[in-house]
Amino acid sequence: MSKEELTKIILPEDKIPKFWYNVQADMPNPLAPGLNPKTKKPLTPDDLTPIFPMSLIEQEVSTERFIEIPKEVREIYKQWRPAPLFRARRLEKALDTPCRIYYKYEGVSPVGSHKLNSAIPQVYFNKVAGIKRLTTETGAGQWGTALALATKMFGLECTVYMVRISFKQKPYRRVFMETYGAECIASPSEKTRIGQDVLAKYPETPGTLGIAISEAIEDAVQCADTNYALGSVLNHVCLHQSIIGQEVKLQMEMVDDYPDVVIGSCGGGSNFAGIAFPFIPDKLKGKKVRLVGVEPAACPSLTKGKFAYDYCDVAGLTPLLKMYTLGSNFTPAGIHAGGLRYHGSSPILSQLYHDGLLEATAVEQKGVFEAAVLFAQTEGILPAPESAHAIKVAVDEALVGKEEGVAKSIVFNLSGHGHLDLTAYDNYLSGNIENVVFNEEQMQENLNNLPVVEEENGKK
Ligand SMILES: Cc1ncc(COP(=O)(O)O)c(C=O)c1O
Repeated sequence: MSKEELTKIILPEDKIPKFWYNVQADMPNPLAPGLNPKTKKPLTPDDLTPIFPMSLIEQEVSTERFIEIPKEVREIYKQWRPAPLFRARRLEKALDTPCRIYYKYEGVSPVGSHKLNSAIPQVYFNKVAGIKRLTTETGAGQWGTALALATKMFGLECTVYMVRISFKQKPYRRVFMETYGAECIASPSEKTRIGQDVLAKYPETPGTLGIAISEAIEDAVQCADTNYALGSVLNHVCLHQSIIGQEVKLQMEMVDDYPDVVIGSCGGGSNFAGIAFPFIPDKLKGKKVRLVGVEPAACPSLTKGKFAYDYCDVAGLTPLLKMYTLGSNFTPAGIHAGGLRYHGSSPILSQLYHDGLLEATAVEQKGVFEAAVLFAQTEGILPAPESAHAIKVAVDEALVGKEEGVAKSIVFNLSGHGHLDLTAYDNYLSGNIENVVFNEEQMQENLNNLPVVEEENGKK
């Protein structure tokens, strides 16, 4: 079979990258430093040791271009990596487009999404540091499920604070986590002081990732043998996800193609970072590849937010990071893509977007589900609502190509399957999904109350 005829582009196991790619080595403008939330001075490792092991803190600040993936992590990656890259032939046909559409399918991981790529190394490095339990937040439940499995694999305990709206929308995600042996608690909860405070003030709140992060950190700092793990946003998470884009580059070489556009959905940003960052060196050398992040119109941190220092959580327990933010108290509407309901975006991604190396666009959920159903009916895979944001933009790009008579090469990250999102599909199919009006006023109010930070610290 000729290369052009391949539908499933598969790398052998020995091609799993041996190094993660660290885009911090290639950024034209370096990151503004993270700040201690109390002193507002640049972070020191001591600020982070109560919740992270030193090896992850080192990765967080490293500017080494390549960081070796431990053998123990690569051994586990072998269970589902390299993930396949598919040519979406039936989707192309349905769209009648001259464009070539490819998707990297991260849903083949045992938990059903890209999140396991970072959960495995995060737990590994905590285990090496002697930690016995990890706490975390989860939106859609994908990250919580990934951490639940990774902790079980390495013999750690796991407590997951799951955003209340998702806890209600996706009860089987809780069962999934519990099957792996994790404890899953709806957030806000009565278990933490911050949870109690939020519930007293807003008993009906749908919850946010920012609240769940505060609860998980409050829980972790109280126990000496417990650390906290974050599923996105931070530099070391983007680093771990770079395995996606590195594999995609090798797979595109196998079919003698190179993308004109690379697309990924954005929550905290590690999913898009994972597929896009390995293309940054090419772009800096003059390659004309567009890198497009897709966020929900209900929570458009990159396209509507402000590039400023903000907290990653509601209680202000986390360091202050310079990122595109809607304000840490912003409560997005309860859209079905729970994993994209985060008020901010990864600082690296934010800086690269600010510097014009990345693009971003925001889409409404009805169009997202329309694209998801078209994808399911052509390619057969039922996508997670988060991943379907990337499908929507890939479809739009392919239709523009058709209109302009340009045969572009389009690659997107199909970050997860939606087998536990059937309530969302049920709602869509029965006409019960509405586009959400973005609450501009709430955002402005939040942005007016961003923490005040000295100029010299953060080049604000
Ligand atoms: C399936 C899926 N895709 C994409 C995302 C967004 O990931 P990130 O926060 O890394 O941007 C999530 C987040 O939960 C997810 O579950």
